[in-house]
Amino acid sequence: MLNYCMMEVVVSFPSFILFLLLSSATVAFAQNYSEHLHFYFLERVAGSPNATAAVSVNLHPESPVGGFGNIGVMDDILLEGPEPSSPVIGRAQGLVVYSDLTGLSATTAVNLVFTAGEHNGSSLAMFGRYEQERVSDRSIIGGSGQFRLARGYALSQLVDATATTLTAEFDVYITYP
Ligand SMILES: *[C@@H]1O[C@H](CO)[C@@H](O)[C@H](O)[C@H]1NC(C)=O
Ligand SMILES: *[C@@H]1O[C@H](CO)[C@@H](O)[C@H](O)[C@H]1NC(C)=O
Ligand SMILES: *[C@@H]1O[C@H](CO)[C@@H](O)[C@H](O)[C@H]1NC(C)=O
Repeated sequence: MLNYCMMEVVVSFPSFILFLLLSSATVAFAQNYSEHLHFYFLERVAGSPNATAAVSVNLHPESPVGGFGNIGVMDDILLEGPEPSSPVIGRAQGLVVYSDLTGLSATTAVNLVFTAGEHNGSSLAMFGRYEQERVSDRSIIGGSGQFRLARGYALSQLVDATATTLTAEFDVYITYP
């Protein structure tokens, strides 16, 4: 048993060196891209005409939507500019879980899916805490297409609210290989 282990160390030592050489070469040549994406988010709230959001679990039907334990699902619209008529660049598809007893925040898991422009066909996976009254600072934990292995963060803030719509401004900062 002991002999076997020593053999293994001796045999693997040169390949360990080779691995170090190869991996440092890979790191030295690897390139990361950094991008700042700026866009707007439009939700037609649950219950309004052509709603892009639904309350799928509602434990508090008599109270406002954000009651503890409620769950919402969204297929919201990503726009180039703040007006609803602005060109559509994608969708924000995911869920919001009302996980804060004070009702001031929620846990969200959302795919930012780009359907036009230079990022058409790629998506970013955003996860984190939505704060209604402040700038939300959420993690970009991955992506698909051009954005595979992306990391970063998304800052968003509500800029307009009507009886039937919510508009937020997004600044997303990412790096990806
Ligand atoms: C690219 O990003 C990865 C992960 O953050 C990091 O390990 C690597 O050193 C970066 N490469 C370059 C060339 O900056
Ligand atoms: C809802 O969608 C229909 C079909 O696209 C459209 O004709 C109508 O104007 C929309 N209504 C609102 C309030 O957006
Ligand atoms: C986005 O890509 C899809 C699939 O390749 C294509 O069908 C569509 O026309 C593209 N949309 C735009 C606006 O470029």
